[in-house]
Amino acid sequence: MNRQSRKQQRRTKLWFALVCVIAIAAFLLIRYENSIAQAPEEAANPQASTGVTASPSQTPQNTDEPAAATEAPSDEPAETDKPAATAKPKPTDDEDGMAVIAEPDSVTALVNKQNKLPENYEPADLVYPDVLFTFNEKIDKRKMRKEAATALEEMFDGAKSDGIHLAGVSAYRSHATQKSLFERYVKKDGLEKAKTYSAFPGTSEHETGLAIDVSGSDGKCAASDCFGGTPEAVWLADHADEYGFIIRYPDGKEDITGYKYEPWHLRYVGKDISSEIAEQGITLEEYFNAVPVNN
Ligand code: DAL
Ligand code: ZN
Repeated sequence: MNRQSRKQQRRTKLWFALVCVIAIAAFLLIRYENSIAQAPEEAANPQASTGVTASPSQTPQNTDEPAAATEAPSDEPAETDKPAATAKPKPTDDEDGMAVIAEPDSVTALVNKQNKLPENYEPADLVYPDVLFTFNEKIDKRKMRKEAATALEEMFDGAKSDGIHLAGVSAYRSHATQKSLFERYVKKDGLEKAKTYSAFPGTSEHETGLAIDVSGSDGKCAASDCFGGTPEAVWLADHADEYGFIIRYPDGKEDITGYKYEPWHLRYVGKDISSEIAEQGITLEEYFNAVPVNN
């Protein structure tokens, strides 16, 4: 090899070494840039990049939400499975200060002077119960919600087996009907007295299709004080709960229900609640721990 070609070989080696140095430097530079460009949340929470799930205590709390009540674990059975008023969906307050019932289609809905039905509420499953009424026409006040209508038929049959012949007097009322009825009573007796026996429109159980006024089959004393103490009233007080009904405005509970005694006004609530209410001799307000209704 002559001098010229040895020189040429050295120059080639130098160039090769230089290219290698540049390549290594470029590789290191790219790695460094990648490491500082890592996502900020990953950088702050290294576990995320390793696939480890954060434990609940590490999860950021939404401070707008009240913290859930911490309950001590208990092996004891619940004292009662009665649905407390607080367990029901929270009603919304209307501008008049009354609560608007959150689930008006529930057969356990509490409708009273403090809890009103939503505006334009109409029950969806009204039917004609196959029982005797004190009138013949197929009109609104003969209708009830399906479940209540079936229970009513069973109750009238049960009464008949005991020699008691019942008749329906007035069941479902539309909001408009309750309005004209209430206005008629106000004209007749004045507002204060009317409020003791007739519900302000939107607060009558008759608007739910779950309530019915009942009399004897002769229609005497229909929805009148003289119905109290009749064999039909006594039978209803003793047996209505077996069919899912309650005497909604009992004697002596006027300060709680807000209405005078109505031995004829039956409200369907389902057998679970009706039997407990009958057993304890309480009202629907007391059952739900609702505040007493003052006139
Ligand atoms: N008589 C009852 C209170 C009503 O009007 O619904
Ligand atoms: Zn009634």
